[in-house]
Amino acid sequence: MRIAIVGNGKMGRAVGALAEARGHRIHTVVDGAENAGGRALTAERLAGADVAVEFTRPDAVVANLERLIEAGVPAVTGTTGWQDELPRIAALVERRRGALLHAANFSMGVHLFLRTARDLARRFAGRPEFDAFILEEHYAGKRDAPSGTARELQALARAADPARAFPITSVRTGATPGTHVVAYDGPYERVTLGHEARSREGFAAGALAAAEWLPGHPGVHTVEDMLFGGDG
Ligand SMILES: NC(=O)c1ccc[n+]([C@@H]2O[C@H](COP(=O)([O-])OP(=O)(O)OC[C@H]3O[C@@H](n4cnc5c(N)ncnc54)[C@H](OP(=O)(O)O)[C@@H]3O)[C@@H](O)[C@H]2O)c1
Repeated sequence: MRIAIVGNGKMGRAVGALAEARGHRIHTVVDGAENAGGRALTAERLAGADVAVEFTRPDAVVANLERLIEAGVPAVTGTTGWQDELPRIAALVERRRGALLHAANFSMGVHLFLRTARDLARRFAGRPEFDAFILEEHYAGKRDAPSGTARELQALARAADPARAFPITSVRTGATPGTHVVAYDGPYERVTLGHEARSREGFAAGALAAAEWLPGHPGVHTVEDMLFGGDG
């Protein structure tokens, strides 16, 4: 496949390296300096790309997705912190019959963790002697807080147990690629469920799998659709 990489940061580089190792061609790499407001994402630049993988910033992603969808290029994005704009982008995908896959977290383990956290929330429902909370930790430079994964975890847990708020605490420090914990603290004991990403390669592998899957799947998808289909 010919893959356009939008955003040449830590994730863009990791996806590009893995794509080449797997025999894909890097069609183009679009970096921040040349692409204010998505202006480098022209039809000419994108012609011949089978799919684009976008990892940039919360303030850049929406314009990038608009340009990619307008150009008819299926777009995979892992950029976080733009969920309020999703309905508008989804409407554009629909209008243009485009394809978009977005995920706040592309690791396989995290999606299994989220499902397990939902099951755990069901088990703790109706036990007010336990306080529940979410803790997430990421590298110092991560711009958005709470993380997209923490928000997803909170939404799943609240749906499973509406009596609890599941407040989130975010820590931004050091170089950790991402840790998420949900805990139930009772008077005599604590139950903790966590996921710890060890490196960015796990996210890059998931994003690349999404890029391989997305062409031929019009509409707006999550990584859950790709991994589990309609299986709730
Ligand atoms: N979904 C997942 O699994 C996952 C995993 C890790 C990270 N993330 C998210 O992915 C995003 C990127 O993470 P990262 O670790 O790669 O961050 P990063 O190392 O800071 O890279 C971001 C890159 O985007 C570039 N950029 C900014 N505006 C741009 C634009 N308009 N067009 C093209 N490139 C632009 C920046 O270039 P300049 O410095 O030149 O502006 C920078 O190189 C963040 O939102 C992060 O939270 C998601």
